[in-house]
Amino acid sequence: MSNDSLKRLRHRIEDLDVQLLKLLSDRAAISVQIGNLKARNGLSIYDQGREDAIYRHLAQYNKGPLTTSEINRIFGEIISVSRKLQAHMASDDREQLAADSDTSTLGVNTSLYGLLGNPVAQSMSPLMHNAAFRILGIDAIYLPFEVNDLRGALAGVRSLRIQGASVTHPFKTSILGLIDEIDVTAREVGAVNTIVFEGDSIRGLNTDWIGAVRCIEGLLPVKDNRFVVIGAGGAARAVVFGITRQGGKVTLVNRTKDNGLALAKGFDLPFAPLSEIEGLSGDCLINTTPVGMYPNVGKTPVPKGVLGRYKAVVDIIYNPFRTRLLKDAEAEGCQVTNGLDMFLFQGAEQFRIWTGKEPPVGPMRDVVVEALNQI
Ligand code: ATR
Repeated sequence: MSNDSLKRLRHRIEDLDVQLLKLLSDRAAISVQIGNLKARNGLSIYDQGREDAIYRHLAQYNKGPLTTSEINRIFGEIISVSRKLQAHMASDDREQLAADSDTSTLGVNTSLYGLLGNPVAQSMSPLMHNAAFRILGIDAIYLPFEVNDLRGALAGVRSLRIQGASVTHPFKTSILGLIDEIDVTAREVGAVNTIVFEGDSIRGLNTDWIGAVRCIEGLLPVKDNRFVVIGAGGAARAVVFGITRQGGKVTLVNRTKDNGLALAKGFDLPFAPLSEIEGLSGDCLINTTPVGMYPNVGKTPVPKGVLGRYKAVVDIIYNPFRTRLLKDAEAEGCQVTNGLDMFLFQGAEQFRIWTGKEPPVGPMRDVVVEALNQI
């Protein structure tokens, strides 16, 4: 190849880059307009359905040489920038709202809520619940408590008259023996993620399973569909309970046979070891393990080849937003969703239990997405 033809090709690339830049700038300007409209109309910035539609639309038009997963990666960045631009517009509105809310009213009548867990520093729950209190003008505050001694913390909760709390890792099971009353569904799940004061007694409930069902139902109905659930930890328990309660069928899969069998037996489910996932199929595959979570973003719990056997794939991880599992699943033509909705709706249900008010789900989602974008 002559130097001249190399130069010519490079010039063409440079011209195309300038055109791409112009197109990206136009796209960003439209995103800002959309952010304005959404902020004014109280709509959520993050819209997984819309994002999925964009990827599906692009996959239809892609004639190569880029693969669908390469296209998804490039547009993943573009969409993430759009989200930030839109969130910026909405956050101007929220800042106004925060400025409007008079913190000097915090006082003896302020209701106190909290998070009991360890660690709690990374939790998005305080952000989400405090935003909801502010938006509805409720005189309440939600604080994270890093707990070493759960029994002692519960004594504190009792004597300080904290109205309610979220319970997270590692206390969701150990709290069962330390509270006065356990809701029947929490007992069936085998875990408590929410406590609430009723008179002098502390009642434990579970909203994780509701979050799981709402998350799955963003993709497909639970009833009468077949689910393959990977994992046998606390998250798997909530997912499995939610699906079976809503009339779906579960096959449980886990790396360690004994752990998997113990959970499968409790819920009367068929079990298969993870090493045999190639022999399974269903309507929806759900990952409840931490495999693929930040910083191990290159990892996935299952080989890509098996994903084509499912219509939908759910990963309960939401950091990163699109795990390798979800990218692989999209490339295999599956509908996908991450665990953001599971987190959001378990929190929304807690809010409803504590306040008796309809949770402002759109803005709650926005503050979490915005915070995740900053990570
Ligand atoms: P949680 O309670 O938050 O759901 P957990 O109790 O730590 O979390 O459960 C983690 C689940 O992920 C377990 O089922 C675990 O499998 P094992 O029973 O074999 O330990 C699964 N898990 C964790 N790391 C995994 C890995 N690298 N590969 C496959 N499964 C994994």
